[in-house]
Amino acid sequence: MIGDVLDGSYRIERVVGSGGTGTVYAATQLRFDRPVAVKVLRHAIDDERYQKRFLREARAAARIDHPNAVQLIDVGQCEDGTPYIVSEFLQGETVAERLHRQGALPPRHAATIAIAVLDALGAAHAHGIVHRDVKPANIFLATTHAGGPEVAKLLDFGLVKLMDGTDGLGRLTRTGMVGGTPAYTSPENALDQPIDARTDLYSLGVTMYEMLAGRPPFLRGTVLELLLAHVREPPPPLAEVAPGAAPEGLERLVSSCLAKRPEDRPADTRVVRQALNELLPTLATVVRVVRPITPVLPAATLSAEALPMAVSVPDCEPVPSSDAAPTVLLELEPRDTPRQAEVAPTEIPPTRTRIPRRWLVAALVLTAAALALSVLALTVWSASS
Ligand SMILES: Nc1ncnc2c1ncn2[C@@H]1O[C@H](COP(=O)(O)OP(=O)(O)OP(=O)(O)O)[C@@H](O)[C@H]1O
Ligand SMILES: [Mg+2]
Repeated sequence: MIGDVLDGSYRIERVVGSGGTGTVYAATQLRFDRPVAVKVLRHAIDDERYQKRFLREARAAARIDHPNAVQLIDVGQCEDGTPYIVSEFLQGETVAERLHRQGALPPRHAATIAIAVLDALGAAHAHGIVHRDVKPANIFLATTHAGGPEVAKLLDFGLVKLMDGTDGLGRLTRTGMVGGTPAYTSPENALDQPIDARTDLYSLGVTMYEMLAGRPPFLRGTVLELLLAHVREPPPPLAEVAPGAAPEGLERLVSSCLAKRPEDRPADTRVVRQALNELLPTLATVVRVVRPITPVLPAATLSAEALPMAVSVPDCEPVPSSDAAPTVLLELEPRDTPRQAEVAPTEIPPTRTRIPRRWLVAALVLTAAALALSVLALTVWSASS
């Protein structure tokens, strides 16, 4: 593939990364001599109806012109019929990569990323496009120029799952049935029921949960168990999974996005955005994890996204604790960042109850006195008899 020129326009330079649906290459758009990203999907499409639908979706996705959405440039098919998607080339890393590297994000950072994603989703929804695959691996933290602020950009609009010809779970997509990634999929999507824009709010809820806790709400050994959990089980409260990770208001908002029934979720992206905007000034800019993240499950049959991120803890000091599980204090922002509304670390209660020494001494004295009295009583009794 390296060195190939697709449709006489895009020269493939190197592999950037790969996911469940294909491989992303850095390429050069020959006409403008500019870098582009080319995602080559795994499966060829031979059904004409699909091809038409992909083109239709591609045209729609290309209309999403938003600073928080990756700009789609072109789509095409390799000689063997494998579809490819060309988009602007981004520098930086995905939120999945950031979580993998650093663990949970500071609440304010997580909320800022969520707001950017909501803005991109709002623009997509306004065009009648549902993303269908919102997850940390599809949010790119792009650096604009040296030292400039990061911009969160949403990748892989629904097109990818459609073009892949599968629903993201390995099943063939039927018309009207859409994909997603098991760890982030909404209950209605898991049940193969009709979906609308609110499916994206659910997946964003899972993503926000993971950004705050360092792990998604449901960790299961198989895809089926994971889907059933989305359908039936209440997510474990953030306050239990990662105490101190998010204030109550933010936790409530995330829970509302995770409602099982779409009608119980916020009505649209604007509602969530507004709530996040109001919370933003109160959110902490540092992370304090007071309990280790739940251990990673065996890989089983799940895709990488279905499994929790391995948590690495760079640049942080373990805090001594009497508990066998280490308490970890994470500080993810530069030390000179102004800190607001920091969450006080929760103290882990000692696991054994200690008896004060003076009580032991008193008990010994009393026992000795009781013994002496008994001996005296025995002596008096034997002398009198
Ligand atoms: N436009 C882009 N510019 C630069 N790098 C990109 C771009 N799009 C994706 N990447 C990189 O390519 C990697 C693979 O992306 P890909 O979308 O294939 O993975 P995924 O989202 O985990 O899986 P999938 O989308 O297939 O479910 C990403 O981790 C990201 O680092
Ligand atoms: Mg992707």
